[in-house]
Amino acid sequence: MIPQVNKIFEEAQIAISGVSSRANFDNAKSKILGPNGIFRELMQLLPRLSKEERPSVGQAINACKNEVEEMFKNKLIEIESNESRAFLGQSIDPTLPSTSNEDIFCHPLTKIKNRIIEIFSNLGFNTVEGPEIETEWFCFDALSTPESHPSRDEHDTFYFNRDVSIENISKKGDEQYVLRTHTSTVQIRTMLQRKPPIRILSPGMVFRRDAIDATHYPTFHQCEGLVVGEGITVCDLKSILDFFFKKLTGEGSEIRMRPSFFPFVSPGFEVDFRSKNLGKLSNRWIEICGCGMVAPSVFKNCGYGSDKISGFAFGMGIERLAMLLYGIDDIRLFFQNDTRFLKQFKLSML
Ligand code: PHE
Repeated sequence: MIPQVNKIFEEAQIAISGVSSRANFDNAKSKILGPNGIFRELMQLLPRLSKEERPSVGQAINACKNEVEEMFKNKLIEIESNESRAFLGQSIDPTLPSTSNEDIFCHPLTKIKNRIIEIFSNLGFNTVEGPEIETEWFCFDALSTPESHPSRDEHDTFYFNRDVSIENISKKGDEQYVLRTHTSTVQIRTMLQRKPPIRILSPGMVFRRDAIDATHYPTFHQCEGLVVGEGITVCDLKSILDFFFKKLTGEGSEIRMRPSFFPFVSPGFEVDFRSKNLGKLSNRWIEICGCGMVAPSVFKNCGYGSDKISGFAFGMGIERLAMLLYGIDDIRLFFQNDTRFLKQFKLSML
């Protein structure tokens, strides 16, 4: 029986070396390793062997099969690299000089978002995303926001019709879907999925039923941050935000924290910053970010029981930051797709 296995191995070797295209590959693979392939046939012979012979033959077949699988894997790599070489050869001349960054533009919101991600990723934050369509539980209840809270009012939140059903979004009972009003939903999604230590950043679009004017728009972007672990304090929160604003707007910038209320943090703060590099707004305190220590009720809603765990969260508006940093005075400009506006933002500039 073993010589038979060796013979099959040699045949497989010859067959694989003859493969030169993806079609040949699939064909050869199914003949050799497929459900009706040679190996399957070999295995079916096993029960007919004597008890003594079976283990050694079984082992030989398996060893041979593993080797053949490895040969197929290498073959596929070879075919794929040939394919990409052929594709590159047709469409790209790698000897040409590259295009200058000078002619590449980047939407100011994308620029600021990328800058925020870059600064926080250097501090060990992972970027995660959450869905824009949420349930009331993720948007409000889990964040300890009672039904009577003004943000839940139909004047402020976009509600879906009750009978809508949306795939991939878990929903309890007769909860309604909403367009998320803030990125704080991602705090809950993250804590339900992961155990501390957590250090995440979550940029994304949010929606509120605001009337449009120079500073309000029904869709805008926020960036949420969440840090959870043992012994996390307000000092950590303040020093991280201080570091962030210094990196974003230069060494001359400062922050201050004022007590404020958000149902899901305790204590809660509003952060103001001032910078020497903001043109007309230089050296003025500007309100920029909500933050605070994660409230015990929120930890409880996410199933975190330990007293040792603490954490902080913050959320800032990306449009607002972009308007301050670039001196943009009308939020509508971000969404009008006017190339006269967009062409002022080169990829190469900060
Ligand atoms: N989600 C709050 C808002 O949209 C901001 C915030 C985030 C406040 C995290 C505290 C902590 O206004």
